[in-house]
Amino acid sequence: MTQGALTILGLETSCDETAAAIVRLSDAGVEVLADRIASQTEAHALYGGVVPEIAARAHVERLDGLIRLALADAGETFATLDGVAATSGPGLIGGVMVGLSTAKAIALARGLPLIAVNHLEGHALSPRLGAAVAYPYLLLLVSGGHCQFIAVEGLGRYRRMGSTIDDAAGEAFDKTAKLLGLDAPGGPAVEREAESGDARTVNLPRPLLDRPGLDMSFSGLKTAVRRAASESELTDRRRADICASFQEAVADILATKSARAMQRFEDDHDGQRTFVVAGGVAANRMLRARLEAEARFAGFSFFAPPLRWCTDNAAMIALAGAERLRAGLTDGLDTPARARWPLDQDSAPAYGGGKKGAKA
Ligand code: KG4
Ligand code: ZN
Repeated sequence: MTQGALTILGLETSCDETAAAIVRLSDAGVEVLADRIASQTEAHALYGGVVPEIAARAHVERLDGLIRLALADAGETFATLDGVAATSGPGLIGGVMVGLSTAKAIALARGLPLIAVNHLEGHALSPRLGAAVAYPYLLLLVSGGHCQFIAVEGLGRYRRMGSTIDDAAGEAFDKTAKLLGLDAPGGPAVEREAESGDARTVNLPRPLLDRPGLDMSFSGLKTAVRRAASESELTDRRRADICASFQEAVADILATKSARAMQRFEDDHDGQRTFVVAGGVAANRMLRARLEAEARFAGFSFFAPPLRWCTDNAAMIALAGAERLRAGLTDGLDTPARARWPLDQDSAPAYGGGKKGAKA
């Protein structure tokens, strides 16, 4: 083992993925030793969305087995770990409790430090899993529940620069998919359909682009998609065209706001120029290409995690746990599971003294 290396087990159970991973953090960098995930997509398919009770039960059934597999993959045992990290919010509370309680049990039984990780911090640090991305960097966090620009100034130092004022980008993908009768998860389904569609055929709005600032809005887009879907017969061709037009509208909004955010980030951070995108929607290839082009144009280096670390996973939780442990930040066994937990709360003031409590 490298001197000073930390080997951490991470657990993720905040939504509909049950995951366990083992990450080693050392002076040499980050190594993902094991990365196990069990998706619950099929369990929720009948209901048109994630059912919290079904999700929590599935986490209970699967988590122990995934931990065993992760330990075997990594060639580790509980005795060789340096700590155990779990998502402790935000998310579906029943699921979060399963992962956090499991981590507490392991910590107590094995005398290991417990690290309670904010799921959003996991996403925020996820680009560091696959590349040496140095602080500070500008983060566009785009997931099913969140859409925010965040200045990541260091571990635990996050300043929100702008966010959606209504739906998250991933939520817009999911609602669009549902409206068009596509299977969950919506993002990949819309992306697949969009490949054979023509983005110029359906005229969709780009809300808030005409206004200054970094806030975003996606709910008008969903309404426009509903109208487009009912205007004429929903043939395969029409469905693909709506998907392509929708994806292009989301990419336009995110790319335009990203250009603005990069300018502001650079001004406020001594000319530092690193831009990263993370979260489930960052798995969208067309969006990644658009953001990369925008970054190149602005003279920023660009990082996006490999696709499997964009959507929910435990490797990002293990990495956040390892970074926290290295900084001496551990949590007591009485630490609560939280349904809501804004990333910048208790870590840095809202950007530019902006209002707290905006949708996290
Ligand atoms: O980060 P994530 O796995 O879970 C949350 O923390 O929310 O993000 C899930 C979201 C879903 O809304 C899903 O539809 C979206 O990410 N997503 C995508 C793609 N893959 C997942 N959106 C667009 N294109 C994709 N390829
Ligand atoms: Zn997530």
